[in-house]
Amino acid sequence: MVPESPSPAALRELGNVSIVGLQWGDEGKGKIIDLLSSEFDLAVRWNGGSNAGHKVEVGDKKYRFHLIPIGILRPNVTCVICSGVVIDPLKTLEEIDGLSTQGVTVESNLKLSLNANVVFPYHKLQDQLAESKAADGKIGTTGRGIGPCYADKANRSTAIRLADLLEDSRLKEKLQRIVPEKNAILHALYATQPLDWKPMFEQYRACGEQLRPFICDTTQLLHRALKENKRMLFEGANAVLLDVDHGTVPYVTSSNCGTGLSVGTGLPGKAVDTTLGIIKAYSTRVGSGPMPTELNNGIGDKIRERGHEYGTTTGRPRRCGWIDAVALRYSVAISGASAASLMLLDVLSTFDELKICTGYKVNRQVREWFPADALELQHAEPLYETVPGWHESLDGIRRFEDLPKNAQGYISRLEGHIGIPLKIISIGPGRHQTLIR
Ligand code: IMP
Repeated sequence: MVPESPSPAALRELGNVSIVGLQWGDEGKGKIIDLLSSEFDLAVRWNGGSNAGHKVEVGDKKYRFHLIPIGILRPNVTCVICSGVVIDPLKTLEEIDGLSTQGVTVESNLKLSLNANVVFPYHKLQDQLAESKAADGKIGTTGRGIGPCYADKANRSTAIRLADLLEDSRLKEKLQRIVPEKNAILHALYATQPLDWKPMFEQYRACGEQLRPFICDTTQLLHRALKENKRMLFEGANAVLLDVDHGTVPYVTSSNCGTGLSVGTGLPGKAVDTTLGIIKAYSTRVGSGPMPTELNNGIGDKIRERGHEYGTTTGRPRRCGWIDAVALRYSVAISGASAASLMLLDVLSTFDELKICTGYKVNRQVREWFPADALELQHAEPLYETVPGWHESLDGIRRFEDLPKNAQGYISRLEGHIGIPLKIISIGPGRHQTLIR
């Protein structure tokens, strides 16, 4: 019998595990989180918001997640959304409803931080208008209000947290003061009609009432779990190259998605024992920004169609290209990943040859370290190693040793270039389509 997930003993050895995307998002983190979560007591989401999108297939059921931890599919796992996440209460309730129609209940095991910042309609409006009215330099955001909400968090006086939704007088005072301020800015920049704070107050206090049973001090909950040696799986959203400090700024999201676990959870860094990186077998990016290995040709189109590379959150076609080992070496270094899972290998079947980007040429110089400046990266010319492809389908393969020799060769060349072992190989969306080495 081939195991569908790593053995419980092997997982115990890993301790608390952090899952981090090592490219520009959409690596397939959802599948691995789902696979591992049965062996953990807690699943912890610590960054981002409803910009993230995870697809998980279990048998003939398909689930889509934006905010709720994927661990919710396991009834014994306590799912925690920490203060580092920006929460859209409307989306959260929508997701809870959607899950419950699929038979997944959240009542007893979902916890939301009272300190998480709340996304309001003016955040989404500002995000969408800034994008649609930008003459050039669009970031290509998801329009979910993520950036403006994190900006208000840093601004402090205009921040509203989940706890504020639970007390009418607090929420009223804040909205009465903040909405006119937002109206003035939005009108001056985009000539918008003013938003009315009163219906917003009614709608969000009602959301607060519905979410009240889930809201608590998650920092205390996590510290108690740490003391009791409970096993934690940290569900990273977005990815290292979208990190607001260490990604391809400004074409990034607004959280420290590669580095901010401690900030997002309130746990010390040593609470994580193992960081497992998630890598797609090729590169994709959605939104603007440099992507040295992008293929604007038939090969890129073929990858997009074979990999169904359309955004989970926005439906946008993703930009596709060869795998980039320079970017991956950087992400491994930044995140501290000691091993990784290689996803969507089956998408690369039927190519005569495959390319791995091993270096960049920038201003006639060969570079092996990812340029810190996105503008410099824009001019990076990829240097490739070409390896033979394979035409066999990977359907039905259950052991690494049964992969076509050229697929094994591709994996071993990648490991050499990236410097960490690829311990899990995914060859399809199902739990059973996973090779564990
Ligand atoms: P924002 O997070 O909506 O502000 O978008 C900023 C950039 O990050 C855009 O290029 C988005 O497409 C990208 N982005 C944010 N979250 C994800 C994700 O989960 N997967 C892929 N791209 C993302």
